[in-house]
Amino acid sequence: MSVLDGRRFGRLVRDHRMRIGLTQRQLADLSTVSIRAIRDLEHGRAIRPRQDTVRLIAKGLRLSDRQRADLEAAAGWGEDGGQVAGDLGVESTTPPSPQGVIVGRDDEVAALEEMLLTGRGRLVTVTGVTGVGKTRLATEVASRLHAGFGWPVLWNSSEERDRLPRRIRTAISALFGDVSSPEDEAGAKELAALIGDRRVLLVLDGTRSLPLGHDRVTAFLGECPEVRILSTSGRPHGIPGEQVFALMPLELPDVRDQRSSADLLRVASVRLFLEHLRTVRPGFTLHDQDVQLIAAICRRLDGLPLALEAAASWLAVYDFPVLLQCLTEEPLNLLSPFTETWERNRVEEGLKGAIALLDPDQRAVLARLCESGSAFSIGRIAEYTGHSLTDSGRVLRELLLRGLVRSDQHRVRFQVLNLVHALHHTVVPDAPMPWPEGGTGDHSAFPGPTPHAHVPYRNE
Ligand SMILES: Nc1ncnc2c1ncn2[C@@H]1O[C@H](COP(=O)(O)OP(=O)(O)OP(=O)(O)O)[C@@H](O)[C@H]1O
Ligand SMILES: [Mg+2]
Repeated sequence: MSVLDGRRFGRLVRDHRMRIGLTQRQLADLSTVSIRAIRDLEHGRAIRPRQDTVRLIAKGLRLSDRQRADLEAAAGWGEDGGQVAGDLGVESTTPPSPQGVIVGRDDEVAALEEMLLTGRGRLVTVTGVTGVGKTRLATEVASRLHAGFGWPVLWNSSEERDRLPRRIRTAISALFGDVSSPEDEAGAKELAALIGDRRVLLVLDGTRSLPLGHDRVTAFLGECPEVRILSTSGRPHGIPGEQVFALMPLELPDVRDQRSSADLLRVASVRLFLEHLRTVRPGFTLHDQDVQLIAAICRRLDGLPLALEAAASWLAVYDFPVLLQCLTEEPLNLLSPFTETWERNRVEEGLKGAIALLDPDQRAVLARLCESGSAFSIGRIAEYTGHSLTDSGRVLRELLLRGLVRSDQHRVRFQVLNLVHALHHTVVPDAPMPWPEGGTGDHSAFPGPTPHAHVPYRNE
């Protein structure tokens, strides 16, 4: 930590103290830290306060969690990235550089940052379908915590294997995966001992395997009280205490409320599509009539970032009306990027994979929802299955966590993604429903609209 950082800590303490009108003596009494220590810190004579001193002062100042985290960062707790890197033998504790500007996601970034900073989430799993932007979001959050609060970041990803040395990756697999030889166990323990009580953000990007030993993760979090784990995955890990963050696709243009081009151009999915368009057709000039077509294209693609990127690449040969027509007739065909070389259709693979992992009940519900086509409320699922609202809620949660269904902000209206509709004939088997037609349960107390009534949804 530089001297400058130490002075920043002292200045912050003094500012907070003055703001709530305390003298140094009063702060000393409230925090149980000696008045001499407070004076030395405020005047920059002491620049490396112990972690418990910082906590006591924060408590005496009645700081919010976020203010406390900021104070801790200024004190150097979290600015020992170089030390962490040295001890763990990793080259860098900097997260990967984000690719381009993140579009939208202000609320998601703020919520995740808050959870990790305050420790409300020690293990946070971002779930959602392939291409929804889980990795992009994790990169953004990790970069902010690294740049703004000095958190060392250990980024573990199957795609960038050389970011961490093999023994660290093996230790992480032993914690979260199915590797369980005695050496791996020892590796996991060694990792916990190396990290100790330092603040470190461990990012597990693209974790597919489910942890076998929850207790190993729980023990690790206990041994490393300042560690935070941010994981991106198609589904939650199911570890006690895990905070699950279901990432929805980007905001979509609302056909009814956003009629002017200026309104539409503010919508996140439209903005991202235009970013890609500028790469495909540099110098492109946008006309008013194009904007409505772009809005319709974004809606067809559910605002799914990877789908927007792939579809925009076809604008090298199509104009907007043709692209929209192709997406309406065969939406999945254009989700392989238009390039010289053959590229996998990640979106289609991801959606199929997510559907394949549903249990028969969940798949049958999805099939019925696809058939009906319209937006729905939880009552519709209760109607189909005859299950209670609680059990119907479980089915709906699963569909949301896997990103096959999106919801409005209030979790009142839901809608199956258009791209899932396009797939359901090929993926959902033509099996009889596991429950009687129309359901059997007593859900007469459900206060919502009659299940088959068409209720307009803002994105319809
Ligand atoms: N909000 C956003 N702003 C700009 N680009 C985005 C945004 N979200 C995602 N992207 C881009 O979309 C593409 C897919 O995103 P990303 O790789 O993060 O998806 P993912 O959910 O992690 O997918 P997977 O499940 O396959 O790992 C990437 O090129 C990413 O940079
Ligand atoms: Mg990813």
